[in-house]
Amino acid sequence: MKVTFRELGPREFRGAIRELVAVYAAAMNPPDRTLSGRESIMDGHAASPGFRGLTALVDGRLAGFSYGFHGQSGQWWHDMVAAALAARSTAGFGDGVAPLTWLDNSFEIAELHVMPSCQGRGIGRSLLLSLTADRPERTAVLSTADAPTRARRLYRGVGFTDLLTDFRFSGGEPPYAVMGAILPLSPAATVPQSPRPSNW
Ligand SMILES: CC(C)(COP(=O)(O)OP(=O)(O)OC[C@H]1O[C@@H](n2cnc3c(N)ncnc32)[C@H](O)[C@@H]1OP(=O)(O)O)[C@@H](O)C(=O)NCCC(=O)NCCS
Repeated sequence: MKVTFRELGPREFRGAIRELVAVYAAAMNPPDRTLSGRESIMDGHAASPGFRGLTALVDGRLAGFSYGFHGQSGQWWHDMVAAALAARSTAGFGDGVAPLTWLDNSFEIAELHVMPSCQGRGIGRSLLLSLTADRPERTAVLSTADAPTRARRLYRGVGFTDLLTDFRFSGGEPPYAVMGAILPLSPAATVPQSPRPSNW
């Protein structure tokens, strides 16, 4: 099995969206009716500042992808999370941290998926580490199902910590965890127990 990685600029990414959404569908098994909406969300994300996309190929065939961009206010995810962190901040995080600073200069990881037949071989981890390498931002942030999944283990293993748990982006969805890490990620991070202070 030969694994290669390839960076996609916004234009190439847009041209590959159908194929990328097929990987997303195989990995996440979402309802079919949501897939065209996913395509247009990804198309919009390609225009975001600081966009970076990365694909993994196994023996020349698309096996996984990840992408992200610079987070800023006015973006849907950013504003939802900022509001929730602000509310949490008002309520008090309890350990003297400043939750809002996580979004001040952040790289938002929007998607990371690997075809089921290729999972568990280090491809997702390599995508995540390469995607975030040499980024100018101070932190990386993402959301994932608030459950003991392989994705959650992977994120914790490279330094992500929970910023929000049991978080709902909309009423009908399952709970999410919003996670953050200080860049660069650590390939062999130990699991932090709480968000770091704002003066790192
Ligand atoms: C989450 C996901 C992206 C991780 O990608 P992956 O390629 O399966 O993950 P990796 O192989 O890099 O690491 C996962 C596991 O493989 C192990 N591993 C890493 N390198 C390995 C190697 N060379 N050989 C064998 N196992 C390896 C890791 O220790 C890890 O073990 P664990 O999950 O049992 O703790 C992928 O499983 C996926 O697409 N899942 C469904 C969609 C999803 O949840 N996406 C994330 C949404 S936020």
